[in-house]
Amino acid sequence: MNILILGGGGREHALAWAVKQNPKTDRLIVAPGNAGIARLAETAALDILDGAAVVAFCADNAIDFVIVGPEAPLAAGVADATRAAGILTFGPSAAAARLEASKAFTKEICDACGAPTAGYARFTEAEPARAYIRAKGAPLVVKADGLAAGKGVIMGMTEAEALAGIDEIFGGAFGEAGAEVVIEEFMAGEEASFFILSDGETALPFGTAQDHKRVGDGDTGPNTGGMGAYSPAPILSEALQEQVMADIVRPTIAEMARRGTPYQGVLYAGLMIQDGRARLVEYNCRFGDPECQVLMLRLGAQALDHLLACAEGRLAEARVTWAEDHALTVVMAAQGYPGAYRKGSAIGGLDALPEDSRHMVFHAGTAVQDGQITAAGGRVLNVTARADSLRAAQEAAYRMVDAIDWPEGFCRRDIGWRAL
Ligand code: AMP
Ligand code: GLY
Repeated sequence: MNILILGGGGREHALAWAVKQNPKTDRLIVAPGNAGIARLAETAALDILDGAAVVAFCADNAIDFVIVGPEAPLAAGVADATRAAGILTFGPSAAAARLEASKAFTKEICDACGAPTAGYARFTEAEPARAYIRAKGAPLVVKADGLAAGKGVIMGMTEAEALAGIDEIFGGAFGEAGAEVVIEEFMAGEEASFFILSDGETALPFGTAQDHKRVGDGDTGPNTGGMGAYSPAPILSEALQEQVMADIVRPTIAEMARRGTPYQGVLYAGLMIQDGRARLVEYNCRFGDPECQVLMLRLGAQALDHLLACAEGRLAEARVTWAEDHALTVVMAAQGYPGAYRKGSAIGGLDALPEDSRHMVFHAGTAVQDGQITAAGGRVLNVTARADSLRAAQEAAYRMVDAIDWPEGFCRRDIGWRAL
């Protein structure tokens, strides 16, 4: 079949890598793709937020299956457009993608289905929000309701920080995404990511991972999109996964179906775990980035079969085969990230690295200039390895990192520390 993947980051490189290995794949196009993706698939310039343009592209290229990578096209209704045109699509409708696009909506769903999450209040004006913060006292978490590229969450460890968050959001720092504010109880504990495929009715666990959000070693410095990940996350034991499926995921899927907006795609549950119980921090309507990279390295070719079963409503018969393995990815970023950084620096040493079912450098933000791979984003490379133990996967990933010649890049040296 002919497959179109929308997106151009490390997540989409990993999806393309897995899809490409499945014999069902005839032609693979990734739009817009990046320099790494271009080595294994066709890439195409396409406005992936424009549903009509995506539908026209599919018709021109006889596309049989569309896989949507990032949240922005989902929130913009691109999966609605392709499905309406009769094209098999992996990814939720805009109505179902509200589980990521509106934090207030997610809270409403949790209330309706009894899923455990942080206590909260919603505000559309600053003064009542300030009064609530003074009455409750810190710590509190202040969030812009809408999509803010991961930046709309302010940890109010003191009352002053929480109040400053109100000024920032209602002051317009996040535009329309900040028209409403959600103030949450602070949850202590350890975070983990749980991925579930849902065809609207059946929910299938699709792997666990742990991300590293802070830029610096020892979880210090500002938040980022994620500086590294590993899978599986040992804290999400089989028993805990079953608790999360029973208390959080299946009730959410049932509530979305009951409302006439069934959830079809991957549901990413961000969890906070304390004393052996999990509560929901947030939902995302797509794979995590860089969590997808470790999941795909572990799943390989079977990933496409499961994404197809999800899109075709056949998850009840799907079985995921996991090896007793571990994967770990180290994000290499441009110096300055998550603040200002320079584009265009040359990256050497990539050609000498192994590329096989246990070692892959997924490209997140790269370009080619005069035949040379260059940095074209903040997060640039995802150096990923798989092995029989997490320690061995970590050693293999850092061996690859150390062979890359990119003086203007940096990475954390401690990815995996929680589980090791
Ligand atoms: P979100 O965008 O909602 O995932 O929030 C970003 C990050 O903020 C999460 O990954 C957590 O580390 C943290 N966070 C969000 N909400 C809470 C909460 N209620 N309690 C503690 N930490 C939180
Ligand atoms: N790595 C976190 C995310 O994709 O949201």
